[in-house]
Amino acid sequence: MVRETTLSASQLILPFFVREGKGERRPIGSMPGVSQLSLDELLKDVKAAYAAGVPAVLLFGIPDRKDEKASGAYAEKGIVQRATRLLKKELPDLLVVTDVCLCEYMSHGHCGIVKQTASGATILNDKSLELLARTAASHAAAGADIIAPSDMMDGRVRAIRSALDAGGFDQIPIMSYAAKFASAYYGPFRDAAESAPKFGDRRSYQMDAANGDEAVREVALDIQEGADIVMVKPALAYLDIIHRVKTEFGYPTAAYSVSAEYSMIKAAAANGWIDERAVTIESLLAMRRAGADILITYSAREVADWLKET
Ligand code: PBG
Ligand code: ZN
Repeated sequence: MVRETTLSASQLILPFFVREGKGERRPIGSMPGVSQLSLDELLKDVKAAYAAGVPAVLLFGIPDRKDEKASGAYAEKGIVQRATRLLKKELPDLLVVTDVCLCEYMSHGHCGIVKQTASGATILNDKSLELLARTAASHAAAGADIIAPSDMMDGRVRAIRSALDAGGFDQIPIMSYAAKFASAYYGPFRDAAESAPKFGDRRSYQMDAANGDEAVREVALDIQEGADIVMVKPALAYLDIIHRVKTEFGYPTAAYSVSAEYSMIKAAAANGWIDERAVTIESLLAMRRAGADILITYSAREVADWLKET
């Protein structure tokens, strides 16, 4: 009765990795319980999660072919586009959130277009914006309910907003990865999405873990550019940022509890060192207490089940 913070399945978003093929279920070694799924298998797992009370999914695509212009990201029959059509047809009330980025579709694994120069590789920010905007519009055309750009190029929210508006999707909200830190906590994800950069790192476009004020400024910019929901990522190591963002802007705020947050709990629990359920719930409650309205977690399905038992 006097509990200040609530945790409910209605706050959860469950990420999925979708790949080509049929009957494919390829376990991700560094993320026990998570697999890359072909469309038919995806539908089974999404149905089960939805039935358990998880209202929303976040889709990442793993294309069969990668190139230097991320063609698979904005192809009408791209893997995320097909997954979105299928899920919205089968489960019209499910919220489908699509991750918009280029790294999974680029042969080099960077989130934008790369140009090789004498002094090394640089990311072409503005050229990348065109591809990101095309990707977002193609997701919306496939029926995505929310567009979530994770690339961190400058000006991407504005570019995506205008592409969506121009395509007649002005009612589709943008959930921007507004404060996305260059983080070692993404390690297992890069196995899962096969998106580790082949050279260099993402420090030129993701934020330094030491910089809280900069993160708040980045969020302000995304809001100015038209973000409807702002996300902080990772979550547990950045609770102060979640709190500042929620307090400062009062916007719907999402916390992305990333791959290593999940894998660390799984690994310790598998060793019998911690209680998986208790630690998971406690961590999510901390994110809620910090100010997160929306929780993106690979444990969403289990959490929804646990919440029913308590
Ligand atoms: C890529 C992307 C990443 C994650 C989501 N989108 C990884 C990265 O930036 O290297 C990480 C998610 C996770 O670790 O669970 N745009
Ligand atoms: Zn990326």
